[in-house]
Amino acid sequence: MGRLDNKVAIITGAASGMGLAGAKIFAKEGASVVLTDVVEDKLNKAAKEIEDADGKATAIKLDVTDPAGWKHVADQTVELYGKIDILINNAGIHVAKGIVDTDMETWNKVMNIDSTSVWLGMKTVIPFMQKNGGGSIINTSSIGALVGGTATGFSAAYSAAKGAVRSLTKFAAQEFGKDYIRVNSVHPGSTFTGMAEEAGLKSKEEMGQAYEGKAALPPYVADAADIGYAYLYLASDESKFVTGEELVVDGGWTTNS
Ligand SMILES: NC(=O)c1ccc[n+]([C@@H]2O[C@H](COP(=O)([O-])OP(=O)(O)OC[C@H]3O[C@@H](n4cnc5c(N)ncnc54)[C@H](O)[C@@H]3O)[C@@H](O)[C@H]2O)c1
Repeated sequence: MGRLDNKVAIITGAASGMGLAGAKIFAKEGASVVLTDVVEDKLNKAAKEIEDADGKATAIKLDVTDPAGWKHVADQTVELYGKIDILINNAGIHVAKGIVDTDMETWNKVMNIDSTSVWLGMKTVIPFMQKNGGGSIINTSSIGALVGGTATGFSAAYSAAKGAVRSLTKFAAQEFGKDYIRVNSVHPGSTFTGMAEEAGLKSKEEMGQAYEGKAALPPYVADAADIGYAYLYLASDESKFVTGEELVVDGGWTTNS
């Protein structure tokens, strides 16, 4: 028996990193998974890999800042699988610029993709969950929403966007508890994914060395699957009385901040 048997999940940013790891774990645990991302080739490959391993998966292109795209994904999911139980608002970008160096275009782009999208996803999917009698929403924030400095990768807009995700999560938990819809945030620390590679880090070892002394636990950097398993707990009924919470997966980084 899987921990997500008979559940239907939508995951954003599922072509890479934590979203992809989560999609694979969810499918193994029995969920039907709708993988979405802007990068179509990697997305289709990921869905095919899951299907080849006997999982249930569908790839649908989605730019998380596009309201019409969200509607399409929600409608398609219900048409294919009959309902939506789980939404993982995982997609995100990082631009390493401080307050003075950030221009308006960068600020708006990061805020839109990392934060406004989370509101848009919840706004679109929650009416389906209400009809269905409940659901679980997981919003990917960051330790950058909890502490500053290196924890934000020195990005002012990222820090602000992830802080907004944290507080919007708590608001939504309050608003929709009555509908049995749980809303929680996950706060990863340094994790070796596509985002880390884009920041110039070539391997997990190199990233671990860069963050030694930050996290308490060696190798000082998480695997994408470490976050995928946090998504799994919050998505499953094992967490049925948990809402508005912050699940920090950072190897102890913020316990010393
Ligand atoms: N890697 C880390 O150290 C770290 C730490 C804390 C939080 N996070 C957060 O974790 C989440 C997942 O990131 P990751 O580390 O797996 O990075 P990643 O780059 O491997 O994955 C992010 C995915 O989001 C997609 N994406 C980007 N813009 C999009 C858009 N407009 N619409 C739809 N998809 C879009 C990308 O194509 C990519 O596949 C992000 O929200 C990120 O901010 C990452």
